[in-house]
Amino acid sequence: MKVLLCGDMDVAETAQWHDALAAALPEARWLDMAAARARPAEVQAAVVANPPPGSLQGLPHLRLIQSLWAGVDRLLADATLPAGVPIARMVDPAMSAAMAETALWAVLSLQRDFFVYAQQQRQGVWLQHAQRRADDLRVLVLGQGAMGRATVDRLVPLGYRVMGWRRDGSALAPLLAQADIVINLLPLTPETRGLLDARFFAALPAGAAVVNLARGAHVVDADLLAALDVGHLRHAVLDVFHTEPLPAGHPYWTHPRVTVLPHAAAATDPRSAAVVAAVNLRAARDGRPIAHLVDRQRSY
Ligand code: NAP
Ligand code: GLV
Repeated sequence: MKVLLCGDMDVAETAQWHDALAAALPEARWLDMAAARARPAEVQAAVVANPPPGSLQGLPHLRLIQSLWAGVDRLLADATLPAGVPIARMVDPAMSAAMAETALWAVLSLQRDFFVYAQQQRQGVWLQHAQRRADDLRVLVLGQGAMGRATVDRLVPLGYRVMGWRRDGSALAPLLAQADIVINLLPLTPETRGLLDARFFAALPAGAAVVNLARGAHVVDADLLAALDVGHLRHAVLDVFHTEPLPAGHPYWTHPRVTVLPHAAAATDPRSAAVVAAVNLRAARDGRPIAHLVDRQRSY
């Protein structure tokens, strides 16, 4: 089987992925973009990390596009993506576990005011705040997919009062009204873009906090900053942004109520993700069902 490996990766990352994939699928031959362009009819599958638009055009025998990213919003934005070829997302329990750890760190830090204490240390302020228990906090997790479920499973045994929201038609506003912390783990789709806007923040109780671990374009930045500045929201933990890296001088960098992460909530780990990809590549080769297929109509 001949597989194209391409995407938004530097030479070292490409080499790391190549080695992990070659170990997981030793029978495959791995092609780079130049080889695929020279012999397009040989390419049977593609393993991709947000490749430049147009990369997957003109490959007549392509049977599977396997994303190394969980979120496929950038991939699906490529208007030249071949129409009939199945696309699989990356769903790796190791990645979901990493996401749940990040969500837990954010929730615990908000519960126990650790972000406030970090700020106080920079100012030389010695001041204790009321200690809250886990079961004092209601946490709403937006998205109940691989990431959302792993996060719920991590929080529930610790005593947090956890609610989930998914695409089942249930109303969001009543859940927001009961949430002390909202964790966004939705895919970026036409329906979810800009969901975290002024109306969304106004529906939260005063003093609530927002944790965005999904995509920057879920948030209307000006509305979030306004809700933080008037003190309606207590804090925002942001891992993802409209423009990444977050531009120098952006108000989030220095806002006292904002904690910034550099899109580090849950990286794909080649050690485990290569095995996940190999299972799907073998399934495509043998004509067996492919796991974690993207529904192009729903955009996730
Ligand atoms: P997933 O398994 O596809 O789950 C998506 C969830 O969102 C599902 O529960 C789905 O509902 C729900 N959903 C989709 N559209 C909705 C809508 N309009 N209204 C309400 N619920 C909706 O995705 P995942 O693997 O959990 O990943 C989620 C996102 O996390 C990715 O798309 C990516 O953007 C982000 N992510 C970020 C990082 C990072 O490092 N920051 C790492 C990995 C992933 P149903 O269950 O009803 O289908
Ligand atoms: C990371 O953001 C991913 O979608 O895998």
